[in-house]
Amino acid sequence: MIAPVTALPQVIGHRGASGHRPENTLASYRLAVRMGADAIEPDLVPTKDGVLVARHENEISRTTDVALHPELADRRRTKVVGGRELTGWFTEDLTLAELRTLRAVERHPGMRPENTRYDGIWAVPTLDEICALVHHESRRSGRRIRLCAEIKEATYFASIGMPVESTLLEVLARHRLDGPGGRSQLQSFEEDVLRGLAERTDVPLVQLVDEDERPDPAHVATYAQVLGVHKSLATPELVAEAHAAGLAVHAWTLRAELVADPYAEVRGLLDAGVDGLFSDQPGLTVEARADW
Ligand code: G3P
Ligand code: CA
Repeated sequence: MIAPVTALPQVIGHRGASGHRPENTLASYRLAVRMGADAIEPDLVPTKDGVLVARHENEISRTTDVALHPELADRRRTKVVGGRELTGWFTEDLTLAELRTLRAVERHPGMRPENTRYDGIWAVPTLDEICALVHHESRRSGRRIRLCAEIKEATYFASIGMPVESTLLEVLARHRLDGPGGRSQLQSFEEDVLRGLAERTDVPLVQLVDEDERPDPAHVATYAQVLGVHKSLATPELVAEAHAAGLAVHAWTLRAELVADPYAEVRGLLDAGVDGLFSDQPGLTVEARADW
């Protein structure tokens, strides 16, 4: 028997438990769930053969050991993605089989030296594997774990003839993680991408909003169900306005290393009324929520 998800504000493992394991790996997601997270968040990009995999950027030199692979040296490119010029290796230029020869590494070795002990162990996971992990960890824990996936640079991928939305919806449906019940949610910073998805799926959609933007909840409510804001925007006033418009509110991202009192930060966001908290340290966040 699988228990319903907590009625408390959700704790969402940001790129898994990325404060403790290299981000966006199966080890990171698994640890997030075992620390008590209600949901896990993968960032998704496609491979050359159209398989969705978890990386925060399609340029992977900071999050994999690709630079150590001489057989891929001639695949280095310079491209403009989302208005930024990037040089390195890109997921859309590598097949899944090639990507599987790489290993994920800690993005911030200076900030998290302890995580470098896991460098070289973990592969870049596919969305298929992540969905299977969600089901496995739900059965194991007796909790209905949710998937809160972010599609990265969907407009860029469409512009190079690689639309990702169909593949995304097909994988969720195959794993029975689609539908309006909130078993999964789909996030994007790109309004047009969400508007396109709204015509194709009843999976709840999350409009992400960066700290230098000013969201209009009434506008967002015309195509999405959740406002996913940078934590600096999650004031009681904005949360109340979003709730009045019918939107839930998620705040991102709690990073214990960067604040003096991470427990106080969690309490402040819960006091503001948020419905979900993205955290690199889901264990600490679940603990702070329990004390709230
Ligand atoms: O989805 C919330 C958060 O993950 C958005 O920012 O840059 O960590 O993907 P980012
Ligand atoms: Ca994300």
